[in-house]
Amino acid sequence: MIEKKTFYITTPIYYPSDKLHIGHAYTTVAADAFARFKRHTGYDVWFLTGTDEHGQKIERVANSCNKTPIEFVDGIVAGIRNLWDKLEISHDDFIRTTEERHKKVVADIFERLHKQGDIYKASYEGWYCTHCEAFWAESRLEEGNCPDCQRAVEMLKEESYFFKISKYVDRLLTHIEENPQFIQPVTRKNEMVSFIKSGMEDLCVSRTTFDWGIKVPFEEKHVVYVWVDALTNYISALGYGTSDDTLFKKFWPADIHLVGKDIVRFHTVIWPCILMAIGLPLPKQVVGHGWLLLDCGKMSKSKGNVVDPLVLLEKYGVDAVRYYLLRELSFGNDGLYTEDALVNRINKDLANDLGNLVSRTMGMADKYFNGVISYSGLVEGPDSELIDLALATPGEVENMVDKRDLSGALASLWKLVSRANKYVDDTTPWTLAKNHESKERLNNVIYNLVEAIRFITVISVPFMPNMAPKVWELLGIADLPELHTWDSLTWGKIPSGSKVRKGEPLFPRIEVEE
Ligand code: ME8
Ligand code: MG
Repeated sequence: MIEKKTFYITTPIYYPSDKLHIGHAYTTVAADAFARFKRHTGYDVWFLTGTDEHGQKIERVANSCNKTPIEFVDGIVAGIRNLWDKLEISHDDFIRTTEERHKKVVADIFERLHKQGDIYKASYEGWYCTHCEAFWAESRLEEGNCPDCQRAVEMLKEESYFFKISKYVDRLLTHIEENPQFIQPVTRKNEMVSFIKSGMEDLCVSRTTFDWGIKVPFEEKHVVYVWVDALTNYISALGYGTSDDTLFKKFWPADIHLVGKDIVRFHTVIWPCILMAIGLPLPKQVVGHGWLLLDCGKMSKSKGNVVDPLVLLEKYGVDAVRYYLLRELSFGNDGLYTEDALVNRINKDLANDLGNLVSRTMGMADKYFNGVISYSGLVEGPDSELIDLALATPGEVENMVDKRDLSGALASLWKLVSRANKYVDDTTPWTLAKNHESKERLNNVIYNLVEAIRFITVISVPFMPNMAPKVWELLGIADLPELHTWDSLTWGKIPSGSKVRKGEPLFPRIEVEE
């Protein structure tokens, strides 16, 4: 048996400090599109998401609601799972850092690093941003505030354990320089290199002034710093360091840690240094995408200016919301979220370009041939333009996905949608229909359109997983799964004599009030 190539992708594990918003949905939908794409193209995929449940921030919110931390997070986590269900997220595992399987691994790693002398005790005196759960040297503050989120920081003075980041930094820099794919996009890489070069102090990795965390096994008044706890999820979820580490052996190192640009630093400095210290290979790539912004700035749980994805899903449906998110945020850059832009994408790309292509084609097949399509194989006029583009599109889309450019991948797919629409205009089937001599030509034209729709749909699956089953019904190939696969993308697969049918519009237009 030939072993399939493996692909391991993760999302950040989100803080269950409040309901998640459309920004978190973006990361998870993007990770899902990568995961589905890789499964679709023959990889053995592991897709992990989860929640980051410890730390001072969670402890404080829970207190303010008069709940214990675990009561508090249980409620939020249930909501997060429901959101991922509604967004058709196809994760293979969901890890919560409050689970035994995770806590044990974190405690073991901490103990090991201490034994080998990479963790030592000293006293910390410096700044802390509870929102970002980040320690800051005075020199990095901006006007006395957290340089990442601009919030006020707190002075900490406590006995702590420290991790010898300084011991690993040179190796890390070499790794970053020698592996240009390690941090993507390249702007993020440059930011990190200059951050590291500006000087790295050893990292404080334990706290004593609150409780809600994983206890340091050899000194229980300390809890492990929440970022060390959280980052470890990527290997604890695979069973690293336990009696069943099959998944770990199979899937580590990760192919992609997908994160927002706000947390690239933790993933490309702290995490690799921990991995080096415990002798593990580094993840192949950390992708730091941009932010979805609102007119009034960054969406944030604590600012309360968030867009609830559940409301959008209810209004517009999962495929439309996924399409919008994946298409609108160009790779690596920030993007502005507006409901108008969402509606515009739905009306233009989905209802007008794609939806009309399908309904026009089905309508003509129905009208001219009672839905029965056939193909003589003769290639004429604009056929080759359409066929050549259809045959080239899977490769182009795959290439974009491998460059981590999902918006570019959809743009490539939409070139094929446009070409198919143009093909209708060029071949004018309604003229061919007037003349009995052009019946064979009309047959071929309709067949080519149907086949183009099959290509578009096969390629769309990772991005809009709910559309394909509807299209297979329309094309009369719901019972032919061999025509739904990536490998089936050669021209002329739909059997002559198949019967297609008209159906409900795939993406109804959204009426906009003037
Ligand atoms: O940082 N636009 O969790 P978190 C795009 N627990 N993406 C956004 C976004 C926006 N406006 N807002 C949030 C944490 N995100 C840690 C992670 S991982 C070991 C621990 C996404 O709940 C983006 O992926 O604050 C960002 O990095 C992440 O949510 C932060 O989620
Ligand atoms: Mg955050």
